[in-house]
Amino acid sequence: MSMPAASAAAIGSLCFPISRIRPSSFRPRMTAIRSGAGVDTINHVLTKLQKECATPLPVLRHVADSMANDMRAGLAVDGGSDLKMILSYVDALPTGNEKGLFYALDLGGTNFRVLRVQLGGMDQRVIATEAEQVSIPQELMSGTSEELFDFIASGLAKFAEKESGEFQLSQGRNRELGFTFSFPVKQTSIDSGILIKWTKGFAVSGTAGKDVVACLNEAMKRQGLAMQVSALVNDTVGTLAGAKYWDNDVMVAVILGTGTNACYVERTDAIPKSPGKKSQSGTTIINTEWGAFSTGLPLTEFDRGMDAESINPGEQIFEKTISGMYLGEIVRRVVLKMAEAESLFGNSIPEKLQTPFSLRTPHICAMQQDTSNDLDAVGSILFNEAGIESNVRARQIVLEVCDTIAKRGGRLAGAGIVGILQKMEHDMKGVIFGKRTVVAMDGGLYENYPQYRSYLQDAVTELLGPALSEKIVIEHSKDGSGIGAALLAAANSKYKHDF
Ligand code: BGC
Repeated sequence: MSMPAASAAAIGSLCFPISRIRPSSFRPRMTAIRSGAGVDTINHVLTKLQKECATPLPVLRHVADSMANDMRAGLAVDGGSDLKMILSYVDALPTGNEKGLFYALDLGGTNFRVLRVQLGGMDQRVIATEAEQVSIPQELMSGTSEELFDFIASGLAKFAEKESGEFQLSQGRNRELGFTFSFPVKQTSIDSGILIKWTKGFAVSGTAGKDVVACLNEAMKRQGLAMQVSALVNDTVGTLAGAKYWDNDVMVAVILGTGTNACYVERTDAIPKSPGKKSQSGTTIINTEWGAFSTGLPLTEFDRGMDAESINPGEQIFEKTISGMYLGEIVRRVVLKMAEAESLFGNSIPEKLQTPFSLRTPHICAMQQDTSNDLDAVGSILFNEAGIESNVRARQIVLEVCDTIAKRGGRLAGAGIVGILQKMEHDMKGVIFGKRTVVAMDGGLYENYPQYRSYLQDAVTELLGPALSEKIVIEHSKDGSGIGAALLAAANSKYKHDF
């Protein structure tokens, strides 16, 4: 898949928008390199980086404990911590008995997905599904709310027109939709919620502070599309619902893609900020919005520089340290510093290397898969994406940088997961560590980056020890969030149902 350079580069299913850059902050330049500075200079940058990004057990422990504490503080009172701990209003998870035709719309990155599913109850489960993906033009990511929602509603309308005979709508009903909206939303009910802020490079005007379901409903009306939103869910919540439909031991869901977030099953009586909250099951799902976590993270000058020049400085620090939108950019900043330090990458600094987000996470991931002696693939990626002519030694150094950043990201993500599990175990003794517990994972970063995945697992094992970590199953739940949203639309159908 290729995209215009000014829009988004993508390898596999990892897509990263670049609209978040303040264009004025960067001026292309060709700087002459200080010559004769000596190999030590690059070594010094690398050693300092490795030292500052190190995540030994005490650092992981501190991050896991802080995550658990921040979760508690966020549950105690609104604004009590970086973690918003948003009530999802999903109290009843799908049981498997759901029947009928349901739609899902998934908006969370540079693409949106539409899906329809025919559910056949406990015996037949998922009878048929159909899905389509539409990429969102770059200009719409920084346009107006109406333009964005009109574009989405028109894609949904076109998809709905193509419904074939396999899909059967019960008589007298409107089509119902589960709307996965993967940005921080303050839910006001299962089918309404106010956008708090955009993340992941979106800077659409006029949506923050508004009910996103109302925005979609108005746009669907303009398209003449008769469909109603029965459930508004975050992608983590959709993933949890989708994964739990097949496996009742799923208690946590984590997205590691362009952005990152986690949700989990919480007891309603453990949410002091919402004392009246009750549900039949005694539990509900909490969307942590952990991307905003920031306590005790090992950060460097490169992280601080990237944050300062982002469209949301000081926000989403955990996301900026561990998620797919940012890892490649951190590497680029380190390599640029190395190029400025000495002439290992040639005598002038290529313009591409000075261009923010020219090197992306899919590139650093692809470089780390190169096992050839001369690191040929690393060489071509460096040349094509960053304009760097490199020898084998330079390539090895770049690989060390990639590994350092991926390792820190994966291990910190693992520590975050353990923080959530610790908090749950503390409040529901034996419910987590006393039995098999599944953490459902989704997102292109987790799916496509093997080194990152194994660093994450290592950190979980180190923190929990071999016996406990055996019971914690970290499982990829591919595209669970779309079907999860459709299932939640079914479970929260506006029509009387007998399931
Ligand atoms: C958003 C979350 C979302 C996550 C993963 C973050 O930027 O704030 O709501 O779940 O990305 O898509």
